[in-house]
Amino acid sequence: MPRLEELDDPHMFEAYGLYLLTSNHRFVRRLKNYYSPSVHGHKTWRSSYLLMDYFGLKPLPRRARVMEVGCGWGPAGIFCAREFQARVTGVDMDEDVFPFLDVLAALNEVEVKSVRKRFQDITKRDLAGQHTLIGSDICFWDSMTKPLFNLTRRAMDAGVKQVVFADPGRSPFHALADRCEKYFDVTCEPWYALEPKRSEGYVMVVR
Ligand SMILES: C[S@@+](CC[C@H](N)C(=O)[O-])C[C@H]1O[C@@H](n2cnc3c(N)ncnc32)[C@H](O)[C@@H]1O
Repeated sequence: MPRLEELDDPHMFEAYGLYLLTSNHRFVRRLKNYYSPSVHGHKTWRSSYLLMDYFGLKPLPRRARVMEVGCGWGPAGIFCAREFQARVTGVDMDEDVFPFLDVLAALNEVEVKSVRKRFQDITKRDLAGQHTLIGSDICFWDSMTKPLFNLTRRAMDAGVKQVVFADPGRSPFHALADRCEKYFDVTCEPWYALEPKRSEGYVMVVR
């Protein structure tokens, strides 16, 4: 049963034990005067709740190293830091997302390292030592399937234990799952989350 907490601030809400901000929150509006995420990294996307729900059922080891790719505001990574004391790195090609990530991390009393890189430029060296690679709502254009497949392959080669991506179920994401299935042990299951309200989609796990 989701826990409901009344918050005084109408632009702050709770999901899976995290405090999150709507686009109208005064902190967000102020940051938007200076930073303009340009590749859809302008809010918390709903697939991130699928990852929170998934990791609630399949917890990470305490203090695992987690890399969130296409992190945007970093909600899923912040959840892992808060819930499992994971050591999280948020990676995004758009450096304008990081001030929003920093505010959300501070609000939730965790630290998340941020790195500006494209999927294509994340090397095996960057991936070595990471326990889990995560990403939510990052495979929304056909052109993203190939770089994310190649990133998954580099992650597996580098010894990452699992790659866990969530998506509402767009065709480039399913194409990614189909491609991964040819080479790796993959599950791609329909998933739903109930916080902050019901969201549906898929969680793909590659091992
Ligand atoms: C739809 S947002 C999702 C943000 C976050 N994962 C969430 O669930 O709230 C997609 C994010 O992926 C980032 N992104 C898109 N293409 C990328 C690429 N080639 N390399 C790295 N980041 C990318 C965007 O800048 C954006 O922050």
